Amino acid sequence: MATSNSLYQRAIDVLKQNDRGTYSLPTHGLYPVQFNWDSAFAALGYRFINQHRAWQEVMQLASSQWPDGMIPHIMFRGDHDGYFPGPDIWNTGQFIETSGITQPPVLASVVRQLDEAGPYRDVNGMYDMLRRLVRWHDWFMKARLDPQSLGIQIIHPWESGRDNLTDWDQGMARVEIADLPPYTRRDLDHVDSSQRPTKEQYDRYLTLVKFGRDRHWPQAYLGQNSPFRMVDPGMTAFLLRANRDLIVLLNKYLPEDTDSIALIQSHINTLELGWLNLWNPKVQAYTAYDPVLQQPIDSVSAASFLSCYASMHNDLHHGHLMDQFDRIANKVKFMVPSFDPEHADFDAKRYWRGPVWHVINNRIGLGFSEVGEHERAERIRKDSEDLIAQSSFYEYFNPITGDGLGGKDFTWTASVYLDWVMQEADHGQD
Ligand code: DGY
Repeated sequence: MATSNSLYQRAIDVLKQNDRGTYSLPTHGLYPVQFNWDSAFAALGYRFINQHRAWQEVMQLASSQWPDGMIPHIMFRGDHDGYFPGPDIWNTGQFIETSGITQPPVLASVVRQLDEAGPYRDVNGMYDMLRRLVRWHDWFMKARLDPQSLGIQIIHPWESGRDNLTDWDQGMARVEIADLPPYTRRDLDHVDSSQRPTKEQYDRYLTLVKFGRDRHWPQAYLGQNSPFRMVDPGMTAFLLRANRDLIVLLNKYLPEDTDSIALIQSHINTLELGWLNLWNPKVQAYTAYDPVLQQPIDSVSAASFLSCYASMHNDLHHGHLMDQFDRIANKVKFMVPSFDPEHADFDAKRYWRGPVWHVINNRIGLGFSEVGEHERAERIRKDSEDLIAQSSFYEYFNPITGDGLGGKDFTWTASVYLDWVMQEADHGQD
C-alpha cells in the first residue's frame, strides 16, 4: 500500500499530467476532451495546489455556455481526435465545439468551495460566472423539469454522468435503434469491454444523439419528446444543492439582484417537492422515476444517498435511508457501490452498474458530515482512501475486491483525494 505522502505527490502528478493549460482532461487516451463535471471536480483539487488554476478551470467551463443557457457536457478543445463521438457527430453549430446535452450541475457548489478558499481576483469575472450559473440553473427548469414529479429528467443517459446505470434500462429499452452508419468505438482501445457499456447501449446512445442532431438541438422540445426520458435523483439532488450554494454566492456578490435571488429560491422550492416525490415507499429509498409510464424505478443507486447533500434529511425517511446504507455497507468491502449489490443486475466491474466512484463518494460524504452522520461519512472517506492506497487513481473501483477499473491516472479521483480524502484524514472529525 502506498503511503499518504507518496499518494499526495502522485495526486498532484496526475493533475499535472492531465492539465491542458486552462482546462483538464479527465485522463489522457480514453477522454481527450473537457467534460463538464470532471472539470468542476478538477478545480476542487487545484484549489489546494494553485488557486489561480482552479479558477481558470471553472471560468473556462462556464465560457462554453450556449445562448439558451445550457452548459454542455463536452467541450472539444485541443487535439480531441481519439474521442468518439466527436464534434461532427454532435454537429451542434456552437461557436465552441460541444456536445448537445448537459451533465450534473456541480459547478455552483464547487465555485462556492473555491470562493471560501480564496475569492476570484477579478470581481467582474465573478459577476459573469454568477450570471451564467443563474441562466444554466434556470435552463434546467425550462428544458429538463418533469412537470409530474418535479424532478429533473435526463434526455440521454450521458446527461446523468452515470451512463449505463441499471435504472435507465427500462427507458433505454424504448429507444428504437436508428439506421446508424458503421462506427468505431474508441473507448475500447483503452479499457476492457467488460468494464464499459455494451454495443447495444452504444447503438442507443448514438440513436439519441442523432435524434437531437436531426432537430438541431431544441432543448425544451427534447425535454418533452426525447425517445429516452428518465427522472434522475442524482440530477435533482445536484441541482437542488447547487441552487442553495448559488443563493449564498448571490447574496454575497450581487445582493441587489433580487430578481435572480427570487428566481433561484423559487427553483429551490420546486426541487424540494421534486426530491420528496422521488421517495419510493416500495423500496424505502429515493429512486429514479419513469416519466413516461409515471412509475418509480424500484432500485437503490448511490444517488439515493444524496439527500443529505441536498439538505433534505429532515424528514421521516432519513432513518429508513440510513438503514439502506447500512444494509449495503454490510454487503461490500468498499462503499459506496453505484448500484445495489443485492440487486440481480449488480455488476461489480461494469462502469455504473456497481463500481465505486470517488466523486459520488465525495458528495455523499460531504452531505453526511454536514448533517452529523459522522460515522457513516468516515466509512465512506476511509474506504475511498483505502481504494486509492490499494489500487491508485483509477476512474472507478470494484466494491468487493478494490481493483481499479476504467481509465488510469484519473483527474477527479486525484482531485477528490486532495480535496477531501487526505484533508479529512489529517484533521479528523473536528
Ligand atoms: C463516455 O464517453 O463514456 C462518456 O461518459 C460520455 O459522457
